[in-house]
Order: sequence, then C-alpha cells, then structure tokens
Amino acid sequence: MLPGRGLSLGRAMVGCGTQPTLTIQSKNLKKYLLNTKLIPTESPMLKNLQMNSTDRLIINVMEAVDLEEVRILHNDDSTLEWLTDPTHVSPLMQEQWYQEISLSSTSQRYIARLKKDQTFVGVFRIDRMDLRNSSAIVGADVVPELRRQGMATEMFKYFLDYLFKGCGLNRLGLETLAINTGAIKMYKQLGFKQEGQLRKAIFRKNMFQELILMGLLREEWSDIQ
Ligand SMILES: CC(C)(COP(=O)(O)OP(=O)(O)OC[C@H]1O[C@@H](n2cnc3c(N)ncnc32)[C@H](O)[C@@H]1OP(=O)(O)O)[C@@H](O)C(=O)NCCC(=O)NCCS
Repeated sequence: MLPGRGLSLGRAMVGCGTQPTLTIQSKNLKKYLLNTKLIPTESPMLKNLQMNSTDRLIINVMEAVDLEEVRILHNDDSTLEWLTDPTHVSPLMQEQWYQEISLSSTSQRYIARLKKDQTFVGVFRIDRMDLRNSSAIVGADVVPELRRQGMATEMFKYFLDYLFKGCGLNRLGLETLAINTGAIKMYKQLGFKQEGQLRKAIFRKNMFQELILMGLLREEWSDIQ
C-alpha cells in the first residue's frame, strides 16, 4: 500500500480493532464474526496468532513509545518519496496523528522489532477495515538499513495469515505508485494481483504518476499456502 498520512494512505495502518494487543483485537473481531456467522465457534488460527511473532520478528500494536522511530522512518526520503503526501511530520503532528489513529475503528498500526535485540524494523498498516464487506487495505514500510532482507515479506505473511485466517477477512487490497517497482514485485511474489490503475493520480518526480490497485483474496492466499 502507498504510505502516507491521513485518512487512507498513511503511515498508520488498519487492523481488526483498536485495542492494544492482537489478542484482545482477535477476541472482539471473533465476537463480530460469530455474530455474522462467518467463522466456526472455535478458530485455531485465532489462538495461534496470539503468539505475535515470526521467525525473526516480534509484532505489536503501535504504542506511544514507538512514535519517534515511526516518525523517523516516515520522514526518511527513501520512504517519503512513495507517500501520497510527502510532507515531513513534526513531533506535534505525530502526536496528533497518534491520538486519531488510536481512536480509529478502521485503522491500525503495528510495529515489528527484531526478536534478538528489539531493533525497530518497520510498520505494518491496516486501513479502511470494512467488516461488513470483509475487506481491508494493507501496507508496510521497513527501515532503510534492513531492506532487502525479507523483513516486509515476513511481516506480510504474518498479517495475511492473521487477517485471512485469524480474522476471517475475504479480501485485502493495496495501492502503490506504478514507479515503485520493487514494492510491486514483492506484492506479486506474495500473490497480490493488479486489479486496475488510477491514471495520473499522484504528482511525483515532477510529473503525474499512475497509482496501481492490487488485491488478494482469501481463497488465493489459501491456495498459495
Ligand atoms: C517496499 C518495502 C516495504 C520492501 O521491504 P523489504 O523488507 O525490503 O522487502 P523484502 O526484503 O521482503 O523484499 C522481497 C522481494 O521484493 C522485491 N523487492 C523489494 N524491494 C525491492 C527493491 N527496492 N527493488 C527491487 N526489488 C525489490 C525483491 O524481489 C525482494 O526479494 P529479493 O531481495 O530476494 O530480491 C521497503 O523497500 C520500503 O519500506 N520502502 C519504502 C516505503 C515503501 O515503498 N513502502 C511501500 C509503499 S506501497
């Protein structure tokens, strides 16, 4: 997904709820899904996903203590160049954004750190969480010094499992600049398919750029596993 601030394409991400842990979020979402009869009464994946870690990463909901590292990642030129709004964020703007995202029921941000020494790795975004239609928009940013080491792929695989199998979502989408070819390659490797493009949607590098829309369905993710 295209990172940025504000309503949709921000540094922050969407999730299955607004509570401070994956476990609590899963409980709330499970309650909703039970009411809508989308999943059986017991979902083994919800239990598995309470272990919020991958091979190399620990993943938690973003907290106030993470804000400065998130801000520095956002403000890095190599991140900002892919944002819809490539404006540097001040500490005060960051604080206001954190309050907004903390209260959001449709957006969530998660922080990945290295298991071995707690080094900040990056942010995973969930936005436009739509439980009625069982869909959400996702995205991730990784700190420059840890890129091309499979970190984003590891985060995505964790969250695709969490959202499709744990939360029972049916569809995940993302948006990215057409010129962000590295990210598009990764999304295709994960199974996302290009579904469309918005012509000349983003002004970047002194010209209007295409915005690529991609999507992945639960059944497609199951087939890949
Ligand atoms: C895009 C981004 C999240 C990828 O994170 P990452 O941890 O480096 O990605 P991975 O290491 O998991 O990459 C997996 C594969 O995707 C492709 N890929 C990722 N980044 C690439 C790049 N810059 N150039 C070419 N291919 C790239 C490669 O095929 C890579 O596998 P390989 O390294 O074995 O060749 C990271 O570069 C980033 O934060 N960029 C700035 C912000 C951004 O663009 N966010 C996404 C907006 S839509």
